[in-house]
Order: sequence, then structure tokens, then C-alpha cells
Amino acid sequence: MKKVVIAIDGPAAAGKSTVSKAVAKKLGYTYIDTGAMYRAFTEYCLRKGVDCQNEGACVALIPEVEITLYPDGKVMCSGKDVTREIREPRVSGNVSYIASYKDIRLAMVDLQRKMAEKVSVVMDGRDIGTYVLPNADVKIFQIASVEERAKRRYLENQEKGIPCTYEEIVADVEKRDRIDSSRAFAPLKPAEDSIELDTSKLTIEESVQAVLDIIKEKVGI
Ligand code: CDP
Repeated sequence: MKKVVIAIDGPAAAGKSTVSKAVAKKLGYTYIDTGAMYRAFTEYCLRKGVDCQNEGACVALIPEVEITLYPDGKVMCSGKDVTREIREPRVSGNVSYIASYKDIRLAMVDLQRKMAEKVSVVMDGRDIGTYVLPNADVKIFQIASVEERAKRRYLENQEKGIPCTYEEIVADVEKRDRIDSSRAFAPLKPAEDSIELDTSKLTIEESVQAVLDIIKEKVGI
């Protein structure tokens, strides 16, 4: 079977992980949530009491950070199950600082490329099509309006029992998009050969189908 690589990038809370997970399941590919890795690194900094805006102190933790993503969505970081913590507002509020540090990105990208070496993958993030896997067979840039994205994340947090207000989510999404798009190294931006998918008016099922249709057209599966 041909090894296929699908890259799905886009701004915060655009529904990338929900869609990527469903597409991967449908095709029997491995789903890789790169955002969970930056989130896990952030949780580790907070766990150690390190200021996430202090680049040197955060980078110094790289040798101690060991991140493992499990097929069922579990995320382990240096001996601790952080699956739930990494979705909390204190992590969301700091992750874009961590993700802007080049040395940390290089360490994460190294892991991500290794994970995609031997198997077909759907990898979602911000720089997958532009930097991590520039030769991906299919590149999708998934967007939605800020209001729609904030609404989705708010409902997702409600379901998970993570306390927050809608206004806080709007502020978080806007702040992360601003930092993620303006960082110097591997910023959030569509790859030149990516296909934009606006899911503002699509249901989850319609978004998944739209991605499957693009994949079918590009790689014939
Ligand atoms: O799910 P959501 O869109 O809220 O975010 P995520 O995919 O979990 O990513 C969390 C944060 O990690 C982003 O806001 C970025 O700062 C960073 N990130 C990144 O810089 N590069 C990636 N490939 C993935 C995430």
C-alpha cells in the first residue's frame, strides 16, 4: 500500500483535530496531533514553575522533556499523564510562547518527522505543510471565522468540564493566532500548494467529507 502523508494546518480551534482524527480513522492512517506536543511541553514548564516567557529557561528543559502520543489520544510527558491538563486555559494561554522558541520547535519537529517516516499519517498543526512535511501528498489549510471557532472550542470545553467563558475563548484564539502568525521561525501560514477549506458553515461530517474528497482527487484513494 502506498504511504500517504496528509498535512492539515490552520488557526486555533478551527476543528483540525476533530476532522484529522476522523479522516485518519476512515483511511486507517495514524493521526498525529502536533499541537498536543507543544501543549505538553508547556505543561512541563508550568509543572516546573518556569516562566513560559523566559526562552532560555524553557529551552533548558528540552533534555528532560519526553513526550509520547498514544493512538487513543493519551499524552504522556516525562512520567505524567497530561491528556487532560494540556487542554486547560493555563496551558492554552502560554503555549504560543513555547511554540515560538526555535530550539523547542526543532526538537518537536524531529519527533514529528520520525513519527511520519514509516506509516501513512494525517498530521495537524500550524507548519506541517510549510516546514515539517513539505513533501506531503495533500496539504489542507482549514479555516473558520473567529466567532465559529470560539463557539466550537467553548462547547468542547463545556463537554470536557473545562471552566471558561466564551469571551475568554475569543481572546485566547485571537492571541494565539497573532503570536503563531508573527513568530520568526515556521509561522502559521498556508503553504503555497495548500488547498483552503473554510468550515465556518460546515458540520463536522461535511468537513470530514470535504477533506476526504480533496484526498481522493489528489491521491486517488
Ligand atoms: O487545537 P488548537 O487549534 O486550539 O491548538 P493546537 O493544535 O492544540 O496547538 C496549540 C498551540 O501549539 C498553537 O496555538 C501553536 O502555538 C502551537 N503549535 C505550533 O506552533 N505548531 C504546530 N505544528 C502545532 C501547534
